[in-house]
Amino acid sequence: MLIKDALKEENGSYILEKLLKKDKAWLFLNDTLKVPKEYFKIQEKVKSGYPIEYIFEEVWFYGDIFYIKEGVLIPRDDTEIVVEKAIELIKSLEEMGQNRKCKSNYNFPLKVIDCCTGSGVIAIEIAKHTNAKVIATDLSDAALEVAKKNAKLHNMEIEFKKCDLFNENVDVLVANPPYVETSWQKPNDFEPDLAFFGGDDGLDIVKRIIKKAINLKIKNVIIEIGYNQKETLSRFLNNFDCKYQFFKDLGGRIRGVEILFG
Ligand SMILES: C[S@@+](CC[C@H](N)C(=O)[O-])C[C@H]1O[C@@H](n2cnc3c(N)ncnc32)[C@H](O)[C@@H]1O
Repeated sequence: MLIKDALKEENGSYILEKLLKKDKAWLFLNDTLKVPKEYFKIQEKVKSGYPIEYIFEEVWFYGDIFYIKEGVLIPRDDTEIVVEKAIELIKSLEEMGQNRKCKSNYNFPLKVIDCCTGSGVIAIEIAKHTNAKVIATDLSDAALEVAKKNAKLHNMEIEFKKCDLFNENVDVLVANPPYVETSWQKPNDFEPDLAFFGGDDGLDIVKRIIKKAINLKIKNVIIEIGYNQKETLSRFLNNFDCKYQFFKDLGGRIRGVEILFG
């Protein structure tokens, strides 16, 4: 097969760029050369359902490139809105702290937890774009190993903890927890169940996070949820002294909730 034919295939350009260590322009200028043998093996693997991110051990998120490996959830574009909301909230609290006329109940730098950190992308982007001190937690050793590697790659200082959810008071808690219904079909067999499933309605862990945040007196909580979970979660949140607001992605679908406890 010639490069020009491979360029017409899905992922063709990306695979060749990675294999040949050349950019797109080079591929177009040399499109009458033959593709290397490995190209076919990789295309076959990808077509059989193996995530391409695991093959090249990299993934783009929030405009940055991160390390990823099999067994750790591949970050999704959907989560970028959660990062955006978290950065917006943290920055507004930081601005309030700088404005002497404005009374702030917070100590600075703010303390933020990214609970269920996975590959660490949320924690790292928050650390990059705010002055907060960031703690990241996960139950999975594989996830924590990848997250630590990513923090090093991006030169960000983050405190990692292996624990069930979180165990301390902070100013802001952010989480993209497992929130998928148990009956749901996973997109592939290579990402871990631990990253997806949250019980029959998917909200078991989300509810545990909310109760724990209340017990630990955490005021600000931002959680990613599924587009169909707004009603169930509203009924649950109405039991507590809090204000909450759901936020949507660019496609207009519910992607998360921002909660302020009284
Ligand atoms: C949906 S993934 C999110 C990963 C990452 N934050 C992201 O947005 O790409 C959920 C993560 O939660 C972790 N997890 C599941 N149950 C947990 C628990 N009880 N305590 C801490 N982490 C947990 C999983 O290991 C997984 O890494």
